[in-house]
Amino acid sequence: MHKFLFLFLAFNIGSAAFADVDAVGDHFEDWLNYERQFAESRILDNISPQRARRGAVIASPSKHNPNYYYHWVRDGALVMDIWMRRLEGYPSRLSNANLEALMWDFVHFTEYGQHIPALSGLGEPRYDVDGFPNQEPWGRPQNDGPALRASLLIRFAYYLIGNGQIEVVKSKLWPVIMNDLYYTGDQVSVPSFDLWEEIKGDHFYTRVACREALLLGSDLAAALGDYGRSGWYSTQAQIAQSLALDHVNVQRQQIIENTNRVDGIWYKDSGLDVASLLALLHTTRKPILNLNDQVVMSTINKIEQSFNSIYPINRRFSDLGASIGRYPEDTYYNGNPWFLATFAFAEYYYRLGDRAKGDGYMKRGAFHAHRKGHMSEQMDKQSGYMLSAEDLTWSYAAFLTALEARQKYTSNKR
Ligand code: NOJ
Ligand code: NOJ
Repeated sequence: MHKFLFLFLAFNIGSAAFADVDAVGDHFEDWLNYERQFAESRILDNISPQRARRGAVIASPSKHNPNYYYHWVRDGALVMDIWMRRLEGYPSRLSNANLEALMWDFVHFTEYGQHIPALSGLGEPRYDVDGFPNQEPWGRPQNDGPALRASLLIRFAYYLIGNGQIEVVKSKLWPVIMNDLYYTGDQVSVPSFDLWEEIKGDHFYTRVACREALLLGSDLAAALGDYGRSGWYSTQAQIAQSLALDHVNVQRQQIIENTNRVDGIWYKDSGLDVASLLALLHTTRKPILNLNDQVVMSTINKIEQSFNSIYPINRRFSDLGASIGRYPEDTYYNGNPWFLATFAFAEYYYRLGDRAKGDGYMKRGAFHAHRKGHMSEQMDKQSGYMLSAEDLTWSYAAFLTALEARQKYTSNKR
């Protein structure tokens, strides 16, 4: 298609959003292509912004209501995963040299922060953009962060080793990874705040993330000849694994995301949380459960059913896939669907090979996005208009991983 016409179409899909659900379907493939470029550009905007320390990944450019102008450890790792996937072979308009530079900036930012005392050590959830651990009252520690970061950097280590840079890995990267793995292994049975920063206790997401980091760490340590550490990581990974499996309730046919609450919010009764799906999608290198496991599928169905009854927009635009939120009892901004949760459902079904079902959730995202492609954190459950932090970096990352799964795991048949 002619470039000009294509942009024209892309811009109109969004503006037709509330008038016409069909328009999303008609221009869907164009929208995906357009949004792919757009999402990558917005992610790049949110890395190393002006006056920030190089390597900082801001969660969103929003500085008020809410202020997300910080480097969150979890978001940073999940966003840099996009560039790591491109170094691992997914097509990119960036050169490998550019991608490596992005990764090294992130490594240096991480290393700098690791050496500054923080209120909860490496469990500090967020850093100011100058690289200093944040000091405001917050739900800390959050122990998924260092684990996600270690898993990411271990993949970077393998990439470098594959390119003949084992000495660089040993001297520059492995020490940074070891810091995160030591923290992760040491804290594996200790309660921390969940990824939504609201409840202190035990979490499936956190435990699964810790397990993967320790397993990958054990393999890399062995590859580098450090058998002592390899063994300890592996022992701690087994502990993380059995703790994680405690959340799988076969009788209720459901993963119970949070258990043993010691602090924070108390009203999450259902145990349902999209975090349980994110746990699986974020740890595909060492899967703890199959995506088509009975309990997983049943959990996914229960989550969708509950959001169908809670969100009016799921009934109003029912030709699209459901919009999905964090968990049914959510009250943040009054409790709404999130782009990253909706795209997680898309990715889930793409990975199961169900393109039609996956496309439904992608169309849902397309419908509520800004006509130029912007995506915030949430969409209003009543009106469908976007809410909370604009250009949430993680929303774009979640869109891109879902799109990659669409290309990888489903055939072109419609
Ligand atoms: C900010 C957190 O980032 C968000 O996840 C949470 O829901 C609210 N605080 C309310 O606790
Ligand atoms: C709130 C979310 O609950 C949390 O998971 C995230 O890390 C921060 N916002 C920053 O995006």
